[in-house]
Amino acid sequence: MGLFSKPIKSLDDLFLHTLKDIYYAEHQIVKSLPKMAEKATDPALKSAFQKHLAETKGQVTRLERVFQMLNEEAKGVTCAAMDGILDEAKEVMSDIEDKTVLDAGMLSAAQAVEHYEITRYGTLVAFARRLGREDCAKILEETLAEEKETDRKLTELAEGQINRRAA
Ligand SMILES: [Fe+2]
Ligand SMILES: [Fe+2]
Repeated sequence: MGLFSKPIKSLDDLFLHTLKDIYYAEHQIVKSLPKMAEKATDPALKSAFQKHLAETKGQVTRLERVFQMLNEEAKGVTCAAMDGILDEAKEVMSDIEDKTVLDAGMLSAAQAVEHYEITRYGTLVAFARRLGREDCAKILEETLAEEKETDRKLTELAEGQINRRAA
């Protein structure tokens, strides 16, 4: 099987493919965040991971609503980019012994995840609007705002305490 599960001929097809990509990615994130929360030592970082786990589950539900609005089955396609980002996060978690450095490493891995999600949801919102699906764009924008807010919060934690303690 190639990169795409079925031929992409139109922007509608590309929109649907991108939805499936992020649907898969969100499922992988739901699996990874509990491990990251468990390994985090800083209480604020731990609670940021836990909070975003709850949000991410809601984001999966939002995607299912969008699939439904499109009369499409909610299905993922393997997202090699997210698999790679999460593989790196796993390496960080198994390779770093110092707890404060581990916190800094997991935080930076989490920001890589958020940045990927921000590009994907930004694209999805733009595609939905272009395709005249303001209804879908609105739902996807809610998630985009959560991802941006999570990234902002993580930056605040990194600059506020996590990196200083790791140094
Ligand atoms: Fe997400
Ligand atoms: Fe996220």
